[in-house]
Amino acid sequence: MPRKMAVIFGASNILWMVFAVSQAFKIDIFPESKIIAQIGDSISLTCSTTGCESPSFSWRTQIDSPLNGKVRNEGTKSTLTMDPVSLGNEHYYLCTVICESQKLEKGIPVEIYSFPKDPEIHLSGPLEVGKPVTVMCLVPDVYPFERLEIELLKSNRSMKTQNFLEVSEMKSQETKSLEVTFTPIDEDIGKALVCQATLHINEIDSQPQVRETTKKLQVYISPKDTVISVNPSTRLQEGDSVTMTCTSEGLPAPQIFWSKKLDNGNLQLLSENATLTLIAMRMEDSGIYVCEGVNLVGKDRKEVKLIVQEKMFTVEISPGSQIAAQIGDSVVLTCDVMGCESPSFSWRTQIDSPLNGKVRSEGSKSTLTLSPVRFENEHFYLCTVTCGHKKLEKGIHVELYSFLRDPEIEMSGLLVSGNPVTVSCKVPDVYPFDRLEIELLKGESIMKNKIFLEDVSKKSLETKSLEMTFIPTTEDTGKVLVCLAKLPIDEMEFEPKQRQSTQILYVNVAPGDTTILVSPSSILEEGRSVNMTCSSDGLPAPKILWSRLLSNGDLQPLSENTTLTLTSTKMEDSGIYVCEGINQVGISRKEVELIIQVAPKDIRLTAFPSESVKEGDTVIISCTCGNVPQTLIILKKKAESGYIVLKSTDGAYTIHRAQLEDAGVYECESKNEVGLQLRSITLDVKGRESSKHYFSPELLVLYCASSLIIPAIGMIIYFARKANMKGSYSLVEAQKSKV
Ligand SMILES: *[C@@H]1O[C@H](CO)[C@@H](O)[C@H](O)[C@H]1NC(C)=O
Ligand SMILES: *[C@@H]1O[C@H](CO)[C@@H](O)[C@H](O)[C@H]1NC(C)=O
Ligand SMILES: *[C@@H]1O[C@H](CO)[C@@H](O)[C@H](O)[C@H]1NC(C)=O
Ligand SMILES: *[C@@H]1O[C@H](CO)[C@@H](O)[C@H](O)[C@H]1NC(C)=O
Repeated sequence: MPRKMAVIFGASNILWMVFAVSQAFKIDIFPESKIIAQIGDSISLTCSTTGCESPSFSWRTQIDSPLNGKVRNEGTKSTLTMDPVSLGNEHYYLCTVICESQKLEKGIPVEIYSFPKDPEIHLSGPLEVGKPVTVMCLVPDVYPFERLEIELLKSNRSMKTQNFLEVSEMKSQETKSLEVTFTPIDEDIGKALVCQATLHINEIDSQPQVRETTKKLQVYISPKDTVISVNPSTRLQEGDSVTMTCTSEGLPAPQIFWSKKLDNGNLQLLSENATLTLIAMRMEDSGIYVCEGVNLVGKDRKEVKLIVQEKMFTVEISPGSQIAAQIGDSVVLTCDVMGCESPSFSWRTQIDSPLNGKVRSEGSKSTLTLSPVRFENEHFYLCTVTCGHKKLEKGIHVELYSFLRDPEIEMSGLLVSGNPVTVSCKVPDVYPFDRLEIELLKGESIMKNKIFLEDVSKKSLETKSLEMTFIPTTEDTGKVLVCLAKLPIDEMEFEPKQRQSTQILYVNVAPGDTTILVSPSSILEEGRSVNMTCSSDGLPAPKILWSRLLSNGDLQPLSENTTLTLTSTKMEDSGIYVCEGINQVGISRKEVELIIQVAPKDIRLTAFPSESVKEGDTVIISCTCGNVPQTLIILKKKAESGYIVLKSTDGAYTIHRAQLEDAGVYECESKNEVGLQLRSITLDVKGRESSKHYFSPELLVLYCASSLIIPAIGMIIYFARKANMKGSYSLVEAQKSKV
């Protein structure tokens, strides 16, 4: 703001000058009226006279205080110069002129003010969001301060206004200030803080003096959320490198400082970069590293502890801390060293038994090959590595198993409905069997299971089995029998841990309910056809076998068809036919007797010894049937009133000592279900001359009971004839032995 020089107020003095013109001796003062001057300025008051040749001037203040100025008289003018203007110049100055006996006096007030500088804005501290701050607006060296007004505005809105009305007794320049306390919020960032100072010098005539200062609100955020990231790790080995990155939030963006904490707690600055990389670390680099985010309003620190370990060589044993190997396989144990130039290896078992394997060491690697792996290899193997004066040992358990084959299902026999059967499930060559579990399932349901908790101190491959007996039913057909063997050794990493075998059940049913259907009938006329149909139940469906029962009890096979057809049967086809229903699990047998009949034929009616006998002779009237069984023979004699049935014995009628009246017609009626035949002879009895005794058989066969008997009849006849010739033979005996 430009400095204002003295302001001249001349309007009210013009009248006064008009009246003075008429006088010869006049006094004038310039400026004509009040003068307002700022401290430090330079002003001059000029007193001049007219109408006096040699006037004498004198200056004084109204209260007779020092003039505080320099007077210079020059002819009719006297000048009072105040340079610089000070508080001591605020007076009503009077100029007195004496011209001979005349004295004239004129006065002028000099007013002083001081308002030399713009206000100053001071903050009690940096502006932080949320933190109360006091703003002070300072207006320096003001006079007269009772005319001062200070206003503090925040983005055109008044925060506070103050006037300093108290009147002080001492005239002095004073510094006045206005204080406001407020809490900045985020929205305040970028707003303007204005301090406006107004000095009301003369309320009426002049414009007030205004000075203002603007300050843009700079709001800060103290560093916070300081985060350190470490790559690769806070645990390091000698020689490793590590990179640590630090971030911190704040406004303005905090500057990052990395330091290391010393033993005495002081910090040793390492970097002013957010990223700190430490290379080729040594053990003594272990310690606490500090990251500090710093800005104008604060700091935030974070620590990280780095541990640098002595570099060790390492030993790795593979395939791991234990291995499950199948007996007979090849197993390679590898001992691998890292961080050692020339290691030396040695292998041993924990109990110092022979290795039973081949060792090969090369460079940083040593292998122990167990091939094939056997029971003797079930040990804890140790690999010892020596590197310089350091020694490391790593071990591996070699555990064995054998579970090579699926279980085997065996049945004690064919499955037959209702017959108990024993199933066995065998797990061959298994080791170790103390964990073996065998389970037998039918469909979904477990029939039996067994856990073999036996002692396995004896190392050997064994075959373990589970047996169970059950009674199958036909419903079991189609169900699946499962034998599941599990060797659940959790620690062992091998597959499979279970094996299974299945068998689909088929339950047989022994043949039964064998029935024979004979069509048209089991007794038939010779020449007719017969169908004999056999059926038998069973699973699988029984095979049919037709046979004929021979006289010696043997069976003569005939057909495997269900229907046995005999076309144009003969008598010899008579007999017992056997049908057998046969399947894998049994035989069911049924018999039927087939009788083939013929109509009686070839009947022979004979008289023995002749049809013409003498009185007193013994005559046998005999009727024989041909080869026709089941034939009834009736012997009759013709009488006047019909026929008289003779009491014949087996078709023979014996007339002892024949009489004349025995002569006549004899008839033999031979009949069976299919026919009838008649024969007759005429016996002639003559008067006796001499008598001769013959053997007379007492019995003759009546029935040709079956074709099998036919030969017997022939025999009887033969024996009878023979007996007649020899004279003694028992036909009864013959009958008994042959029939
Ligand atoms: C504050 O007032 C000044 C002058 O009167 C003006 O230029 C400015 O745009 C105003 N600011 C706001 C935020 O009102
Ligand atoms: C800080 O790190 C950057 C990149 O890693 C690099 O360019 C810069 O020179 C580093 N400054 C100092 C002071 O170390
Ligand atoms: C025997 O069976 C065959 C074939 O089924 C049939 O043609 C024939 O008439 C049957 N014979 C008798 C005597 O039933
Ligand atoms: C069984 O029957 C088949 C046809 O039905 C026939 O060809 C065969 O000769 C028969 N076998 C016997 C031994 O009867």
